[in-house]
Amino acid sequence: HLHLNKLLDFNSIQELPDSYAWTQIGEHHTTINPNFPSNSCHGDENVPIINLNDPNAPKLIGNACKTWGVFQLVNHGIPLSLFDDIERTGMALFSLSTHQKLKAARTPEGMSGYGRARISSFFPKLMWSECFTIVESPLEHFIQLWPNDYTKHCDVVVEYEKVMKKLAQKLIWMVLTSIGISKEELKWAGPKDGPKEACSALHLNSYPSCPDPDRAMGLAPHTDSTLLTILYQNDVSGLEVLKEGVGWVAVPPVPGGLVINIGDLFHILSNGSFPSVLHRVLVNRTRQRFSVACLYGPPSNVQIRPHPKLIGPNRPALYRPVTWNEYLATKAKYFNKALSSVQL
Ligand code: SIN
Ligand code: FE2
Repeated sequence: HLHLNKLLDFNSIQELPDSYAWTQIGEHHTTINPNFPSNSCHGDENVPIINLNDPNAPKLIGNACKTWGVFQLVNHGIPLSLFDDIERTGMALFSLSTHQKLKAARTPEGMSGYGRARISSFFPKLMWSECFTIVESPLEHFIQLWPNDYTKHCDVVVEYEKVMKKLAQKLIWMVLTSIGISKEELKWAGPKDGPKEACSALHLNSYPSCPDPDRAMGLAPHTDSTLLTILYQNDVSGLEVLKEGVGWVAVPPVPGGLVINIGDLFHILSNGSFPSVLHRVLVNRTRQRFSVACLYGPPSNVQIRPHPKLIGPNRPALYRPVTWNEYLATKAKYFNKALSSVQL
């Protein structure tokens, strides 16, 4: 136990421990292999960058979701100071001592708190990253981390989540509208302002600088179990997405930009039209990478199923209906094979 905690103290590690060395896993370099090299010869294949003010934005977003399952959004109208604030809170959190952070450790049964990436248990090696998950309120953990100073950090998180939820709803409607689905047809998505009871969670992620980045992995390849995920990344690159026929493509930080990616539930809702994108994070030798993922999903009791408009004689429903909770349980069991396990 103590030994494992020591392994979370990244600053004290001078040489990459064997438990973090991914290159020693198997020789077969399939594209799913976490160490399959980044693509460097298709320089013209870039994740689309879309200006939300562009009159064509809905169409461009629809196209990007179909062909990539991911895009970067600029001119979204969110004040950049909000990103400064969440980054300041996140960096303050991760710069606490390991001992301090472990006071807010995520328990095996719990959803929120400090620890390794949730997906760790599916891989034989440790990832060079730490994660703080916030579901509903950060209060209980933030009081432990900053007994005298928690309110300002709580306020930042609450505001951030509120703003991201609103943006997520707007984007979901843009995408659905682009394929001819109206609000009336999806009752759970509710009245004009979207589902009040929609669920979301925040993952604050830190990827410390790493003494041996070529052998380490920041976050192993996975798809998100969400409808969609909105990611803020600081100015340190590392995120890559897998594009069929191309390979791993970097998603470089764009000032003020947000990375939006389709998750498995939207994949199901769209009957496979909008693929959830496989992504991973690499680390580097000199700079700490910081990111915040807002995981957005439907109300927990709502069944997500391929939309009738996307089903036809030549296009049967590909997936069975699932709630977010059911899907999370499936994911916990099958991980990256979860989608095929709910296939009809
Ligand atoms: C994630 O996939 O949840 C985080 C990705 C990132 O840090 O860029
Ligand atoms: Fe992710």
